[in-house]
Amino acid sequence: MQEYKEILAEVLIDAVALQKRIAELGAEISADYPDGNLLLVCILRGGVPFLVDLSRNITAPHMMDFMAVSSYGAGKRESSGAVRVAMDLQMDIRDKDVVLVEDIVDSGNTIASVLELLHVRQPRSLRVCALLDKPERRETDVPIHYRGFEIPNKFVFGYGLDLDEYYRNLPFVGVVDLNKYKPTD
Ligand code: IMP
Ligand code: MG
Repeated sequence: MQEYKEILAEVLIDAVALQKRIAELGAEISADYPDGNLLLVCILRGGVPFLVDLSRNITAPHMMDFMAVSSYGAGKRESSGAVRVAMDLQMDIRDKDVVLVEDIVDSGNTIASVLELLHVRQPRSLRVCALLDKPERRETDVPIHYRGFEIPNKFVFGYGLDLDEYYRNLPFVGVVDLNKYKPTD
């Protein structure tokens, strides 16, 4: 994998701005779910850094669980309508207040399918918290209750978002320079 500096066109959201916004979201969620019935559901793998920092900013007692999904018949950078559950939750979400924690809502297909899937398990409530929202790319309408940042239609990486599985660890969100990035496939 290339050095990230070679393929970084620009830093879109720096680490300070990310943490400031995540603190705000944490405060908002803490106020909305004071009674300890909150379950954060992190969509693997992109949601991990966001889940960790968000959780540390939620002062209300809460639980967390993890779920991995993959989309059917889609290329690496697009998703089709349907998703397959690659790893299911360990917890029963019935009567819990569930907040889905995602890195980015792009086409909206992933979140729409996950919402459908979880809805039938009868949580008390079900909301979406997405760090990034790329509205120009939307194919399926999804309700985003907690939104970190609205971003333009550019391919981004860092802070959970990967480039061929690398660079999820970067503390900022950067735009990929598509002229310099050499995909591995
Ligand atoms: P969807 O198109 O809303 O279903 O988004 C599905 C997934 O695509 C997200 O959870 C991300 O993992 C990935 N994705 C979408 N846009 C980007 C991007 O700009 N960089 C890296 N991953 C992305
Ligand atoms: Mg991804």
